[in-house]
Amino acid sequence: MMPRRSYYVPFESVNESLKEISRDNQKSFKSLNGTWKFKYFNSLGNINIDNLLNNKNENFDLIKVPSVWQMQGYDNHQYTNVKYPIGFNPPFVPSNNPCGFYIRDFEIENFSKDKDYHLNFEGVDSCFYIWLNGKFIGYSQISHSISEFDITKEVLEGKNTIAVLVLKWCDGTYFEDQDKFRMSGIFRDVYILERSKSRIVDYKIDTDINLENKIGFLNFKVTDKVNNPNITYSLLNPKGEVIQSGIINNDYVTLKIEDVELWNPEEPLLYTLLIKTEDEVIKEKVGMRVISVEDSVLKLNGVNVKLRGVNHHDSHPLNGYVMTEEDLLLDLRLMKQYNFNSIRTAHYPKSPIFYEMCDEYGFLVISEADIETHGVVELYGLGYLENYNMIANDPIYEKVIEDRIEASIIPYKNRPCIFMWSVGNESGFGCNFEKGLIRARELDNTRLLHYEGAFYADKNRENDFSNIDVISRMYPSIDEIKEYFNKGIDKPFILCEYAHAMGNGPGGLKEYDELIQDHKEFAGVYVWEWCDHAIDMGKSKDGKTMYGYGGDFGEISHDGNFCVDGLVYPNRVPHTGLLEYQNINRPIRLIEVDEVNKKVKLKNTMDFKDIGNFLKVKYKLFSDGNVISDKELLIDTLKSKEEKWYSLDLPEIPNTIVTILFEYIVKADFLLYKEGLKLGHDQIVWSNNVKSLKSFESITEVKSCEEVFIVNESAEEINIVNGDFNYIYDRNTALFKLIENKKCRFIEDSMKFKVWRAPTDNDRKIKFQWIEAGFNNLESRVYKTTIENKESSITITSHLSLIPIYREKVLDIVIKWIILPNGLIKSEIDAVKNVNSPFLPRFGVEIKLDKSYENLSYFGLGPYENYQDKHYASYLGRFNSSVSKIHEDYIRPQENGSRSLCKEVEIYNENSSIYVASQDDFSFNVSHFSTEELTNKKHNFELVEDDATYLIIDYKQSGIGSNSCGPELDHKYRLNEKSMKFNFYLKFEER
Ligand code: GAL
Ligand code: MG
Repeated sequence: MMPRRSYYVPFESVNESLKEISRDNQKSFKSLNGTWKFKYFNSLGNINIDNLLNNKNENFDLIKVPSVWQMQGYDNHQYTNVKYPIGFNPPFVPSNNPCGFYIRDFEIENFSKDKDYHLNFEGVDSCFYIWLNGKFIGYSQISHSISEFDITKEVLEGKNTIAVLVLKWCDGTYFEDQDKFRMSGIFRDVYILERSKSRIVDYKIDTDINLENKIGFLNFKVTDKVNNPNITYSLLNPKGEVIQSGIINNDYVTLKIEDVELWNPEEPLLYTLLIKTEDEVIKEKVGMRVISVEDSVLKLNGVNVKLRGVNHHDSHPLNGYVMTEEDLLLDLRLMKQYNFNSIRTAHYPKSPIFYEMCDEYGFLVISEADIETHGVVELYGLGYLENYNMIANDPIYEKVIEDRIEASIIPYKNRPCIFMWSVGNESGFGCNFEKGLIRARELDNTRLLHYEGAFYADKNRENDFSNIDVISRMYPSIDEIKEYFNKGIDKPFILCEYAHAMGNGPGGLKEYDELIQDHKEFAGVYVWEWCDHAIDMGKSKDGKTMYGYGGDFGEISHDGNFCVDGLVYPNRVPHTGLLEYQNINRPIRLIEVDEVNKKVKLKNTMDFKDIGNFLKVKYKLFSDGNVISDKELLIDTLKSKEEKWYSLDLPEIPNTIVTILFEYIVKADFLLYKEGLKLGHDQIVWSNNVKSLKSFESITEVKSCEEVFIVNESAEEINIVNGDFNYIYDRNTALFKLIENKKCRFIEDSMKFKVWRAPTDNDRKIKFQWIEAGFNNLESRVYKTTIENKESSITITSHLSLIPIYREKVLDIVIKWIILPNGLIKSEIDAVKNVNSPFLPRFGVEIKLDKSYENLSYFGLGPYENYQDKHYASYLGRFNSSVSKIHEDYIRPQENGSRSLCKEVEIYNENSSIYVASQDDFSFNVSHFSTEELTNKKHNFELVEDDATYLIIDYKQSGIGSNSCGPELDHKYRLNEKSMKFNFYLKFEER
């Protein structure tokens, strides 16, 4: 292998370099991507390499490059998180080491003896051997790294044959224990570069800015070259105009730029540096920017920048590790649109194109080395975290760690988007990281260094953290973070992972954002993680994509659905958690209201950009959930962090529930933003006059009625009949089991009290306590029921408990049902919780309706699913939807689709409807899936709809949190009230 160098592809001429062409169209670039002959072997022992190299036509399959075998029908998928995928005995690997042999022919057009030829692999998992025209060329490893080989001596004019043998496991496997599907093969591009014999090999570009005078310094230094080329340069400004050019003597030049235009993630202006030698032009995009830390505050261009970040793995449901430019661009586009400005390349370096796109579209990148030795904590009998430093602190591995750090920094050291290097993930701490950090500093002292693993350093050892520039943590609770700030910190603080986005979640983002805004030393946070990793296993019979996760491929050792933990589904459709993130991180915020003068104060929370030339603000006034005025605010200029008052043009405010929704909308196409795109909203409640809610009045209005009730009682039931309707109350449950009128049978199954919810992934720990406490198996035990028969109403009062099969009761309930002559039912519930029970998933009443009840209209928080701690994507309004649409189809089924802070809900079919209304805010779910079905099934494609529509009217549900990997649910979001009072009306009507 050749020494590592900065990544670039030289152009043939200045003219070629000025065309915006992809490298595939550069003359020096010869791609070897495409179809190769391939043979897969279960074990390395089964191959005869000479036969394979010589007997090229023997039974080869075809495979595309880049790809991973497991996605092409070879080998088997395995997903493991912490555990190593192989038995631990480094550097040895299993005797049966699967491998793949690749071979193809190629020709080099315009082959020249005066050129050098360099073969490049951008990513091969896990290690590989190369032959050209039967001659052995070399070996390499480190899956996510570029390996370059000089093939000048072996390459021929005309036909050539290249062969590559890739092994599934190697000693590197012990250093690549990232939480991911374990895949193998040539998964990134392969190509040959044609180089001049006299050339630059490597160089370093640094920038420095005098922020006061707006003078920029661009330092260019050649660090390696061959045959002493003459070097000249030209510098083009972001508009593409040549502003400087000259000769580079002694391999070094400093260019001084007056009135420099700075790069930042919001306005990523790039200069272009052309470095010319006799036969080659190297084109470098240069972002003029400076990173600094002052008093523990992270600064970009002198500004206290906030990192709104996400962890990004390379993952595709059909292609695995292979991410095309389009795939990456889609991810970046979505990230911009959902208000991210930063990415951590978890947990390895990306392909070069990724960094180039981040330069161009504006992302601050933490680029991480391909190092994770997490599996050492799983070794038997060594103590979980006590063994964390086993590899990190064993000098035998010093060179391995150093090599991997070099492989991550050297190629990308000139990329402006990278502001911090991370020397790895979850590998403990010790001498090897101390050395590795020193090496990282030597390679680049212009960027910060990160390593979260330092947290696990052996407290009895004298550790040197001096080369780590930030305090980085994963998943701490709000209280833990507060403690850091209370104690005082001496470095900027970041969360390299937080808000574990598994399944329904994350909740509780708001509190983190508040801390970020409050503490200037809190530089930012990175959501774990961007996308659900799952394998597209084809379509189910009803047309759903069947996504597989750990355990679906017959693996013995796996970690289930822990890989399905992203903000987007595998096909990049956003989860509601992404919408939540977007609004928490809206770039402009309403921070104060002056009701008397009808004014609002807005603040620009972006770090650099003026809102005036970016967003417009639309505001809509809602009365009882209906829009009655729709206006726009004119924002000429609102600079970063600036706050200003704006007058509202409002109609006369009615005496209703009045809210104003402010929407922040992109004015014109810009970078990856499209005109009209909404980047967030705020809503204010101007008046909350629930009593006068018109529709509520019409539901609850009692018209005079001649009907008389007939009440028939038995030991089991109470039957209430009048000329219009027939109700049967079940004395054993204290709920109705039949509700019908002459035309419709609305309910024919008993209603149920509900405490259980289908556990979300974030309930995966607490659910064991819930099961222990019997929440999944509660029965009503009714002690007493009385009936009051007045002329104008019937009131049934029952005293009962909800009690699990063998434990003590969970709730004591007094429930009152008041039935009015027009059929309206009012329920008044008074519940007292057993203080010893864990907090409740929910408390509500389930009504089983006919499946034909499909349509839905509600006045509450919408249009997305929402919970106590996950509702910022939604706002108060009137929304129409349907039972099927409201289902959020998480890959592993779980509680979903709840709507909270509701005032009214109507569920209807062609003929009839059911209204629920309350003056207290309530939540509801509707679904064709029973809670049991959502609890028990492992995949969405296994779900079977019942012949029913389940409506659950909840007093409340507990919040969502992010306890799948993060902290326990915040106490304030737990449903743990000692006493709960809950009233609602039910009305059954024909339409
Ligand atoms: C972190 C780790 C990630 C991932 C996550 C859980 O500890 O760094 O790679 O495993 O937990 O999803
Ligand atoms: Mg890990």
